[in-house]
Amino acid sequence: MAELARSARTETFPRMRLMEYGTIAEDLRSFMEQPPYCHIFSRPARTKAIFDSLQQVEFVHPLLDIYGYFKAHDPYTYRHILTVFALSRLLAQDFFDDRNELSRELAAASNHDFGKICVPLGVHKRSTPLSEHERMQLSHHAAAGYVLLSYYLMDPNHPAAITARDHHERCDGSGYPRGIALQNRVVEIVAVSDMFDALISPRPYRPHSYDLRTAMEELTVLAHKGAVSADVVRALIGCNRKNQPHYTECTLSHEQRGTPPPDNLYLGAIPCSYESDGNPDGDPKA
Ligand SMILES: [Fe+2]
Ligand SMILES: [Fe+2]
Repeated sequence: MAELARSARTETFPRMRLMEYGTIAEDLRSFMEQPPYCHIFSRPARTKAIFDSLQQVEFVHPLLDIYGYFKAHDPYTYRHILTVFALSRLLAQDFFDDRNELSRELAAASNHDFGKICVPLGVHKRSTPLSEHERMQLSHHAAAGYVLLSYYLMDPNHPAAITARDHHERCDGSGYPRGIALQNRVVEIVAVSDMFDALISPRPYRPHSYDLRTAMEELTVLAHKGAVSADVVRALIGCNRKNQPHYTECTLSHEQRGTPPPDNLYLGAIPCSYESDGNPDGDPKA
């Protein structure tokens, strides 16, 4: 993958601020006003700080056009990428004090699923079980995103490229595409944000989304198993609480009272790897 990502290119592309592209800024604001994000982003000062830092993120034009493609052809993925971006930035505040570091990490989270542009739309929108070949096509989005971002950012080690490649890896090595034990705080944050947004959103293969309680319980189970970062899940729990405490003030409970939604082609708890649920994109085509 790294060789392909490093393949020669000498031209440079014009850069532009992400939040000035198309209707991204107003779309993101509108997504953040919908439940449960309206509570998660309910503190004006905190939300303003997030938007101020989002304003600093720049990308080259071919990458920005991917947002335009998703908005036109796959609105779920468009919304998902943006909400995961904002949520990751919010959670990162609990782990990174330095503003510059936070901004760097932030840029990494902005396009975790860009590789999905390489997946046929029919596969994204399928409401029936995928064939083995289609599952492979879907799971390919992590590697495809890595190559795409490495190429356009001219850096195979760019945090955005690494995040695109590794956001379906898990801390216990049960993820994909490489099955490595994830040890990167930024990617751990994106991975939890990614699963959370996928669970609480309607999907083609799951007409009803998880309620907030059940989604948090599913993530807590994964944290107890060591598949995802317990600290990041605690930070997510904190964001969903009334006074939004720091993650160190939150605990993970073993109690499970929620019920996964009906008519769910994806059965049971969130899979840590695509083999476990027949759905290659981790849970949830996340
Ligand atoms: Fe995702
Ligand atoms: Fe993904």
